[in-house]
Amino acid sequence: MFPNVDFTTTQAYKYLADHYISINEKSLKQLFAEDPQRFEKFSLQLEDILLDFSKNRIDDETFALLLQLARECQLREAIDAMFSGEKINQTEGRQVLHTALRNQSTTPVLVDGEDVMPQVRAVQAQMKDFTNRIISGEWKGYTGKEITDVVNIGIGGSDLGPVMVTEALKAYKTRLNMHFVSNVDGTHIAETLKELNPETTLFLIASKTFTTQETMANAKSAKDWFLKAGAVESDVAKHFAALSTNEQGVAAFGIDTKNMFEFWDWVGGRYSLWSAIGLSIALGIGYDNFEQLLEGAYAADIHFKETEFEQNIPVILALLGVWYNNFFDAESHAILPYDQYMHRFAAYFQQGDMESNGKYIDRNSNRVDYQTGPIIWGEPGTNGQHAFYQLIHQGTKLIPCDFIAPAVSHNPIGNHHQLLLSNFFAQTEALMNGKAEEEVVSELQKAGKTEPEIAALKNFKVFEGNRPTNSLLLKKVTPYTLGCLIALYEHKIFVQGVIWNIFSFDQWGVELGKQLANKILPELEDDATVNAHDASTNGLINQYKAWR
Ligand code: F6P
Repeated sequence: MFPNVDFTTTQAYKYLADHYISINEKSLKQLFAEDPQRFEKFSLQLEDILLDFSKNRIDDETFALLLQLARECQLREAIDAMFSGEKINQTEGRQVLHTALRNQSTTPVLVDGEDVMPQVRAVQAQMKDFTNRIISGEWKGYTGKEITDVVNIGIGGSDLGPVMVTEALKAYKTRLNMHFVSNVDGTHIAETLKELNPETTLFLIASKTFTTQETMANAKSAKDWFLKAGAVESDVAKHFAALSTNEQGVAAFGIDTKNMFEFWDWVGGRYSLWSAIGLSIALGIGYDNFEQLLEGAYAADIHFKETEFEQNIPVILALLGVWYNNFFDAESHAILPYDQYMHRFAAYFQQGDMESNGKYIDRNSNRVDYQTGPIIWGEPGTNGQHAFYQLIHQGTKLIPCDFIAPAVSHNPIGNHHQLLLSNFFAQTEALMNGKAEEEVVSELQKAGKTEPEIAALKNFKVFEGNRPTNSLLLKKVTPYTLGCLIALYEHKIFVQGVIWNIFSFDQWGVELGKQLANKILPELEDDATVNAHDASTNGLINQYKAWR
């Protein structure tokens, strides 16, 4: 049974609230001085991923209490409920089984008593065949030419995962040029189409529901562009494929359902890159590499399902997040990959995490009286260092950060990678240790500053430190390692949803804006003055009408 526990009523929560007072007074520097075994104790390795969580504001007691919290919240039961196909997405009456998409075992995965693995494998075989035919050039466009460019049209989970992975694994690029169009702003599709030739372009219309306004509008414009170029309706089958759960919608749009790659409603949109939605990934990096991605994710699934909580990476990452979110009142969490290829990783988990855990209603349909999901943000290092790290180092907000870096670069040019990694190591050290006043004063003295000059400057140059970080050192960003890393983060989000007792797999919060946009759209069709809204909305709409 999926548990339903208010974590603030647990014993562990009460102990943690007391314990926080003593930990809050301690510096990370002190914690390291007190415990020479700290790195060994608070680091873990899974496959080619090393997690060092020793630079967190925890000691043995904190760690034990956080684990107790997980147990009191019946996390084990929750994990079992998800993997066994219980309908844990209760508000939508659905299972949560993206894990079935990467299941490498022969164990059946049951949905309403039926094993879904044969269907999963059948779609994977269809994807493999299609991918190989496109990449090899066997598949020809309507004038007999090979496909050179692929445009994935989708938004949210039907875009962010494919873009993020395709970018992160660009080192494995096939001969195909991949493009991603998501925004309903016509600029996005217009700019993308400018450089493309309809004879050699394949469009993937990626939408779980096949009703999403943005995707349908972009798909229609892509089809219009294609037909305007001289192609006829019967040529559409050679240039348009659909990735969806909605067969009727796909047919109604005019895409041959033979060109449809199916997935199922037990795959959440933001967890769908492992499904047919990953077709753009397979085309971008080759099917074998896509399989490696799935295998890496499976390794993370097994780790999450079978490892004791004290050694379980997603559980630990999640509990540390709860520690800062609910006891230190941290409001955000930064994800900072020191890998240019991973430049969309934070953006991807912005949806993954914020759409999952940005909820104020608990599983009993009551308003929570505690904080739930944090604001997720981040950019790759070292760019971020020259943009927002000032605030992380010396701002008034506590921002726990995940630093992620590969030991081996795909582009070993000169000493670039050492430069990059020296920054990666330096930042977490600096955030932890800070810079004491004595050190600042001594530096200023050595630089020949006078006493009044030192007095005037020193406070600005002091760093309090004590800023917590996780470091995730990867051997190399391979499809397998990336798959593993993504799945670890997915499970972290799940664990936090369990602790906060919210439903992580629905997203009602995005509906209201969509509904209102649909109501406003007809009002924009003519030039009549609008007065059906509040004064602000009326004023904005009417000014828009005056200016357009
Ligand atoms: O933003 C809401 C949402 O439903 C996401 O969860 C989803 O990833 C996205 O829209 C796209 O939905 P679809 O794949 O159905 O077009």
